[in-house]
Amino acid sequence: MKNTALILGASGQDGAYLAKHLLQNGYRVLGAVRRSASPRAARLQYLGIERDVELFECELLEPTNVIKLVEKTRPREIYNFAAQSFVAASFEQPLFTLDVNTLGAVRILEAIRAVDPAIRFYQASTSEMFGSGDDGAQTETTPFRPRSPYGVSKLAAHAMAVNYRESYGMFCVSGILFNHESPLRGREFVTRRVTLGLAEVKHGRRDCLALGNLDAQRDWGFAGDYVEGMWRMLQQERAGDYVLATGTATRVRDFVALAAGALGFKIAWEGTGRDERGIDRNTGRAVIRVDPALFRPAEVHALRGSPAKAAAELGWAHRVEVPELAAMMAAEDDRRVRDGLQDF
Ligand code: NAP
Ligand code: GDD
Repeated sequence: MKNTALILGASGQDGAYLAKHLLQNGYRVLGAVRRSASPRAARLQYLGIERDVELFECELLEPTNVIKLVEKTRPREIYNFAAQSFVAASFEQPLFTLDVNTLGAVRILEAIRAVDPAIRFYQASTSEMFGSGDDGAQTETTPFRPRSPYGVSKLAAHAMAVNYRESYGMFCVSGILFNHESPLRGREFVTRRVTLGLAEVKHGRRDCLALGNLDAQRDWGFAGDYVEGMWRMLQQERAGDYVLATGTATRVRDFVALAAGALGFKIAWEGTGRDERGIDRNTGRAVIRVDPALFRPAEVHALRGSPAKAAAELGWAHRVEVPELAAMMAAEDDRRVRDGLQDF
């Protein structure tokens, strides 16, 4: 009989890539999505799998939705991607963020405990739990010092997953994932803002793109590589926590230059601080400016992870490096803007 996996948050970036990975591995894939007016299967459609994933409605804020879904579907594995995942928004909506990200995870854990404690559970934990680190790469044992309501919400959910593992012997895994991106990334995140915004400048749809902190550093990988690591975590004999990262940090401004290069711009930085501009040397026009409204009340300045444990125990390694990632995302947004596609 086929393995059955339930993905909560199947309409998002990771939900789509994981669904594809599981289907390729012979799974029956169930996707939980919220009731919504916007197209829920656009990312699944992009990957050509919208007909292969069975969709169910599930709202994590609704106390009985999860338990009913778990009872009805009886999966062998549950992946929890459902979250208010935008860090900047969490400063404006801290209660909502904690409700979805923390209590939502606990609702799932309780449903598993009540229905079938043998169900294997993946919690989408995050490098945001670390806050800014020192110069070294962050590992599974680095202390957590979250700097946003989002980071706090995810740290509490992470601790609950560990607690259910220790208290009830449940197979709860936490993937502490560093930033991973793709052409399916939401438009609010900086990599996608850059590739979409610059593609719009290229095609004359806007003059200039405003960004926040150009000097923030992130350890960016490709989401398609990361879902394989998540799946491997759930296939281990014992549950544990694993960092997935590339080990390399890149500044926002350097990602901009890579994406810009892929779209035919040549960026030169002029000015400092709030007056800094990214000038296209081909035309002399400013295509990037700084908007302080995009700064965060507390910033995580730099994140870089060590995937050593995942490499040793899961045999996992990333394949796509940042220049290839930026070029891939830029090419897709170039095509979408040119063809007037607005899927996500
Ligand atoms: P995403 O694209 O924002 O997807 C989040 C998913 O959660 C969407 O399907 C969304 O549904 C769903 N959701 C939000 N609120 C919900 C609610 N109240 N009830 C049910 N579903 C709800 O995020 P992602 O990039 O795929 O990331 C997946 C998970 O990994 C998230 O939990 C994120 O916090 C975490 N994470 C991401 C990264 C990264 O770099 N991508 C790194 C570390 C951890 P709608 O489509 O209806 O909004
Ligand atoms: N979004 C955004 N928009 N970020 C900007 C901008 C901008 O215009 N300009 C600069 N930045 C900086 C942010 O201040 C941050 O330091 C960095 O770019 C990355 O921001 P995001 O792409 O929004 O990602 P994030 O690191 O805050 O959060 C993502 O990664 C986490 C893992 O570390 C999300 O996917 C989280 O859900 C995930 O947990």
